[in-house]
Amino acid sequence: MSATKDVLLAGRFRVKAVSQPRAGRAKTPSRLVQKGFDLVTDRPVIIKWVPKVGQNVSDDSFRMWQESLRHEGEVTALISQKDHPGIVHLVANDEREPLVVLELIEGKTLRQCLDEVGPLSPRIAIELVDQACSGLEVVHEADFVHRDLKPTNLMVDLVAIQLTIIDFSISQPAPQRQSADDLCATQGSEQPGDTTYWSPEQLALKKPVTTASDIYQLGLVFTEMLAGHPLERRQLAKELPQEAKHLELLLNLMLHDLPGGRLTATEVRQHLALAQRRLPVAA
Ligand SMILES: Nc1ncnc2c1ncn2[C@@H]1O[C@H](COP(=O)(O)OP(=O)(O)OP(=O)(O)O)[C@@H](O)[C@H]1O
Ligand SMILES: [Mg+2]
Repeated sequence: MSATKDVLLAGRFRVKAVSQPRAGRAKTPSRLVQKGFDLVTDRPVIIKWVPKVGQNVSDDSFRMWQESLRHEGEVTALISQKDHPGIVHLVANDEREPLVVLELIEGKTLRQCLDEVGPLSPRIAIELVDQACSGLEVVHEADFVHRDLKPTNLMVDLVAIQLTIIDFSISQPAPQRQSADDLCATQGSEQPGDTTYWSPEQLALKKPVTTASDIYQLGLVFTEMLAGHPLERRQLAKELPQEAKHLELLLNLMLHDLPGGRLTATEVRQHLALAQRRLPVAA
C-alpha cells in the first residue's frame, strides 16, 4: 500500500489515506492501524479504522469489521476509565463511523524488543511482568478478560522499563457476567489466527475463557522473555536459563493446565516481589 493524501476523521483526526487493494482482489476489508494526529490536542495518536472507500468487499463483511471496532472502542473506553499507566488510554471512539483512537505509546512492541536484543535479564523480565499483572488486576477487577496477551500486544520501553497493554479487540466480559448465549457466541466468534499464546481452554474452543486464561498467556510471554521462545510447562525444568531457575515454581503455577490451578494477577505479583528480592545484585 502506498500513502496518498490526508483524510480527516471525526472532524479531528488527520491520517494518511492509503490505497486499497485493486478491485476484485480484496475478499475482506482491511482494518488499518495507523499513526495519525489529533488536531484538538496537537498530539500524535494511533487510529484503528476500516475505510470503506475503494474497498471491493461485501456490506456484511464491512459491517462485521465495524462491529468489531465498535466493540473494541467500548471495552477500551471502559477499561481506560481506570486510568492505569500500564493500559493504553482511549482518546476517542466514534460510534457512527466506527474508529478507535488511542494515545500513541512510545517504544516498541515486546516482539520487536525480543527480536532485537534477545532474552531479557530476570530482573527486567520480572519488573515488566509485574507491570503487566498490575494492569491485569484492573482489567480483571472490571470483570473483563483480555484474551490476547502476546508480544505484539505489549508495548515496552526498555530504557524506562515500562510496559503497556494494548489491543482489547477480542476482550470479553469474564464468564460470570455472561449469559450462556453470550458465552457460546464468544467461543464461536474466536478468530483463528496465531494460537501460539492461547491457553488450553482457548484451544479447546468450547470451554469458558476466564481471567485465568490471561495468566496462562502472560506465563508463556514471561518464559519467552527469559528463554527467548515460549516454553510449555513440561519444558520449564530443562529449558529455563540457570539464572531464572528460581522462577520455575511461579511459572508452573501460571501455566497450570487447569484454570483453577493458576494464580491470580495479585498472587503472581506477590511471588514476583519475593523473586525480585532473591536475585543477586548483578542479575
Ligand atoms: N497505542 C499504540 N501506540 C503505539 N503503537 C501501537 C498502539 N496500538 C497499536 N500499535 C501498533 O500497531 C500494531 C497493531 O495494533 P493492534 O495490536 O491494536 O491491532 P490488531 O489489528 O488487533 O493486531 P493483531 O491482530 O496483530 O493483534 C501493534 O502491534 C503495535 O505495533
Ligand atoms: Mg494486536
